[in-house]
Order: sequence, then C-alpha cells, then structure tokens
Amino acid sequence: MARGAFGRSDVEVDLLVRGMRSGIAVVGFGYIGTVIGAVLADRGWPVTGIDVRQSVVDDINQGRTSVAEPGLGELVAYNVRIGRLRATTDFGAIADNDFVIVNVGTPLGPDYEPIVDDIKAAAQALGEHLQPGHVVILKSTVPPDTTETLVRPILEEVSGLRAGVDFGLAFCPERLAEGQAIHELTSIPVVVGAVDERSARACATLWRHALGVDSVIVEDPRTAEMVKLADNLWVDLNVALANELAKICDRLDMDALQVIEAANTMPKGGNPVNILRPSMGVGGYCLTKDPWFVNHLGESVGLELSIPRTSRTVNDTMPEYTYGLLTQLLADRGKAIETSKIAVLGIAFKNNTGDCRLTPTKYVLELLEKSGCLISVHDPWVSDDEAQSVTTVPLTPDIDSAVKDADALVVLAGHREFHHVPLAHLAGLATGGCVFLDGRNSFDPAAVNAAGFVYKGIGR
Ligand SMILES: NC(=O)c1ccc[n+]([C@@H]2O[C@H](COP(=O)([O-])OP(=O)(O)OC[C@H]3O[C@@H](n4cnc5c(N)ncnc54)[C@H](O)[C@@H]3O)[C@@H](O)[C@H]2O)c1
Repeated sequence: MARGAFGRSDVEVDLLVRGMRSGIAVVGFGYIGTVIGAVLADRGWPVTGIDVRQSVVDDINQGRTSVAEPGLGELVAYNVRIGRLRATTDFGAIADNDFVIVNVGTPLGPDYEPIVDDIKAAAQALGEHLQPGHVVILKSTVPPDTTETLVRPILEEVSGLRAGVDFGLAFCPERLAEGQAIHELTSIPVVVGAVDERSARACATLWRHALGVDSVIVEDPRTAEMVKLADNLWVDLNVALANELAKICDRLDMDALQVIEAANTMPKGGNPVNILRPSMGVGGYCLTKDPWFVNHLGESVGLELSIPRTSRTVNDTMPEYTYGLLTQLLADRGKAIETSKIAVLGIAFKNNTGDCRLTPTKYVLELLEKSGCLISVHDPWVSDDEAQSVTTVPLTPDIDSAVKDADALVVLAGHREFHHVPLAHLAGLATGGCVFLDGRNSFDPAAVNAAGFVYKGIGR
C-alpha cells in the first residue's frame, strides 16, 4: 500500500491505522510534540519528530528529553531504544509518513498579539515535501482562520497539491494539561475541525486507534480553533473567580475552599457548578496567552471584550497579593520581612512539573529579592539552568538546608515530594512559630498547624 491515509476508504484507513503501518511525523518536538510523539510511539506507532533545534533532535536520538513531565523520560528512553521513536531536523522525513502532526509554538507579541511565524515556517517546509495522501493535522493553539487562510494557502502553493482533494488537512486542538499530560492525551476526546469530510474521518480513525479516544467533529477548522480558545478562556476566568472569592474570604476570615466545595454541589445547566481553586497565580504557556488571543480577535472585528482582560488582570494580581499575605503574617508575629529568612518551596508554574515558562512564582521572588530578606529556594523538578529564568538565587538541592532556620515557608508549587517529608521534621528545622504560606492550597491546614507551623492558604 502506498503512503498516505487521505483519499482512502474508511475501511482502508482503518486497516492502515489499526495495522499500525501509519508512520506519524510530529513537527515541533517541544513540550506538546514530545508528549504526543512519545505516547504514539509507546502505543506502537513509528514516530519521527522533526524540529529546527539540533539540541532537541540530538537529545531525543540519545533517548533523552528535557521536557519535565511525569513518566515522559521513561517513554522517550524506551521507545528510542526499541527504534519506534527518532528525531531529525530534515523535513524530508515526512515522505515516509502518513500523518503529519504540527505542534510548533505560537507565542504572544509585545502588544499581546499572536505570533504565527513558526507556523508559517513549518507550513513552508512541510509544503516542500507534501505528497498526495498525506493528512496534515495542526495542533498548535492559533487564532481562528489560521488553518484555512494561512496554513492551507502555503501548503497548496508550495506543494502544488489541493487540500481536501489531494491531501487531508484538519485542526485538532491540544487540550491536555501539564503534569497529567500522558494520561489526558489518552483520555480526553479530540476536537476535529477539517477542511472536508474525508480529512475529518481520517483524523477520527487515527485518534480512535492511536490514542483510544473519541473525536468531536465540528463543522470546520475555524470552529475547532475557537474551541481551544474557549476552553482556556473558561479556565483562566474560572480561576480568576476563585481568586477573587479567596480575597473576599481572606478579609472575612472564611475558608474559600469550603465555600467553593459546597457551592460546587449545585447543579446548573445539566452539570454541577465547577469553581476551580484559588492559587498564588496562573502561569505557563497557554493560560497566560490564549485569553489575549481572544482579546486580539475581538479587536480585529471591532469588539472591545471585557472577559479576557478581566481574567488576565485578576490572575496577574495574585503574586503581589501572595507577597502581601506573607508580609502581614510575619508582621503579626512581630517580624519584618527584610530581616527574615524565607524558604521558597517550588518555583515551577504548576505542581509536579519542572516547567518555569511564564511562571507567576517569578514575581513573588522578585518582590522577595527586592525586600532584602534572606531567601532559599528548593525545587526538585526544576534544573539549575531553568531556575535562572525565575530567580537570581541559586537552588538549594535539599529541602532540609532550604528550610533550616526559616521564619517562613512559602509553597509556590505544591510538588508531591514536599508532601512526603513529615511536617514535624520541617517544623523542627525552621524557627519556632514559623509561618507556612501555602500558595497552592495543597496542604491540610490542621496538619500543618499541628506540626507547629502557623498555616495560611490563599483564601483560607
Ligand atoms: N504546553 C502546553 O501545555 C500546551 C497545551 C495545549 C496546547 N499548547 C499549544 O501547543 C503549541 C506548542 O506548545 P509547546 O508548549 O509544545 O511549545 P514549545 O515551545 O515547547 O515547542 C515548540 C517546538 O517547535 C519547534 N519549532 C519552532 N519552529 C519550528 C519549525 N519551523 N519547524 C519545526 N519545529 C519548529 C521549537 O524548536 C520547539 O521545540 C503552542 O501553540 C501551544 O499554545 C500547549
């Protein structure tokens, strides 16, 4: 059977995919590309990662990845060893594959506008090697119409082929969350918005057999592009709601988590209310930018939207709010921040990940550094190099040295390792009546207080 899943009957695509003869090229082998590539390889598919960064390609071919996601290192090592996963900088490798999944980055520009330069470059390089039968799936988060009005014309012009006639083209947003990425990739339904019905069916067949998940087929790529933005706008706004509830509860001396848990038992619109948890801030590569994509989109059609600005503004206040809580807690104990030792536990933007991209912890650390206090920083997930993007304070490799003689422990990422150390042991290392500021609300207040700390969470 010649290469290519597009243009075949459903039965043929089904056979091709089920027989795992489909090679899958994954363009952009960063965070998302590595997770997708490693999981597909682990489920039996021959995967070729294509990236412009030689260092990424070299790492993968040596069975390594710098992407700190639980379980990912093992998947990469195993699948490279048995020859199912490899990487290259050469787009020519596309020729040997049936599906091409594109996951290059889409950062924000200086005016909060989406930058799609990497998408353009990838489409250009891909177009040069595109052959009839290929199915191209774009997964990067993009403004609506990018697939149809940017990617499609480049692919068609460069290859001389037609989308929906000679090759398949679809947008399938990636909706997994870091920290649970491997599980979520094989459990969350995939939204498919394709340029034609055959492309949509080829994608649905791939996701069913490759990942074991259902597809939600929407009318066109632009609808699928909007779905991703709607999901992330919902998350950012929902966290902003939780954060403002936390601020009120702090003032009124109530437990915001109790309020939220009880509020979430009310059914509404067929599902229970689902207010998320307050925290010391929102970071990472998606939630900090995707609401701005929506804002920018509104502006492009003459609309002044309030929601994206509101969610971003509220969430961006949280690092400073957290710092304010810390200074108040110390003041209540007759201590000044500038003469205190503060032990910061966790600097990644999310629990149980080593990802420091756009982490809100950076702003708390900036305020701490400005205050002149003595700071120690411990994060078992973050490399020394990565930590330098967050703070000038070098990482303390062990938690005991970090906590020794501290006046305050400030948990900015609630990594599981911190929960494995007995609280009484940590309290014994810190000063008496040490403050415990739980910026992720990931500890049990009663247990922390019982160990001898003075507990405070965000909104509790
Ligand atoms: N990180 C997440 O949790 C997440 C979740 C859902 C969706 N997304 C979206 O997925 C996309 C990728 O995100 P990421 O976190 O993996 O980004 P990333 O920066 O980690 O990875 C992007 C990769 O693309 C490579 N690249 C850039 N230009 C290229 C080109 N022309 N050809 C080949 N490779 C090229 C880069 O070298 C890099 O390795 C973004 O649009 C993001 O918004 C990310």
